[in-house]
Amino acid sequence: MADPWDSQWWLSEVTTDPSYPEDVLPLLLDILHPQPEGRYLDLGCGEGQGMRAVGAAGARVMGCDQDEVLLRHAVTAGPVVQCRLPDLAWLADDTVDGAFAVLVLEHVTEYGRLVAEAGRVVVDGGVLAVVVNHPAFTAPGAGPLIDPSDGEVTWRWGKYLEEGTSVEPAGAFNLTMQHRPLGVLLTTVAAAGWSLERLVERGSGPAAADRDPLLAAQRHIPRLLGVRFRNTRHP
Ligand SMILES: C[S@@+](CC[C@H](N)C(=O)[O-])C[C@H]1O[C@@H](n2cnc3c(N)ncnc32)[C@H](O)[C@@H]1O
Repeated sequence: MADPWDSQWWLSEVTTDPSYPEDVLPLLLDILHPQPEGRYLDLGCGEGQGMRAVGAAGARVMGCDQDEVLLRHAVTAGPVVQCRLPDLAWLADDTVDGAFAVLVLEHVTEYGRLVAEAGRVVVDGGVLAVVVNHPAFTAPGAGPLIDPSDGEVTWRWGKYLEEGTSVEPAGAFNLTMQHRPLGVLLTTVAAAGWSLERLVERGSGPAAADRDPLLAAQRHIPRLLGVRFRNTRHP
């Protein structure tokens, strides 16, 4: 049974969080590198931030998400479909040149099926771009530690090495977040026929640091992870 999702909470989060335009969307564009006139699918498009950014680069974008309220906003950026990932059965093989997922994989339980389905709908040689919260940042039990000897903010790894879940407040509800260490994140995608092409790790940008003074002292602690894969299912 899926967690209930608070659409109004996400609408206010995403439209007021400066780290979206300053950190998250630039990372997406860097990783995806959308081609003008290319066809892209936004997996878990929410209210359409990623669709708008990729569309502004001249690409043609469609989105899908489980949430009808968010999709009513996203439809201003391109065609949308309501679906529950990993279900992409509504899309034919080789339909798009690329797929991307921004801060979505953390919510999806059937991750292996999703990346395999993405490999079916993306043309051979096409791309999959993922932007996730860095798993070292969001691992269950991970968090900042202040070294009492000098006040330096360091990091507790928590249960980074194990796959697991954590429960996080998200507006009116709690959300169960899926934790996958880097090895699991990458090898699951490789097993579905994708080849790793580019991996970028980013610390907290100035926008995130403004929101949380502790983050200002953590600019060197990984915060976001972006990865581009190439579809090599027919070598
Ligand atoms: C953190 S939001 C990110 C939204 C969007 N990618 C963005 O960057 O603005 C996560 C999104 O994933 C969607 N989502 C979560 N699990 C999903 C699933 N199994 N199938 C479809 N959408 C899902 C939620 O409805 C929500 O819109």
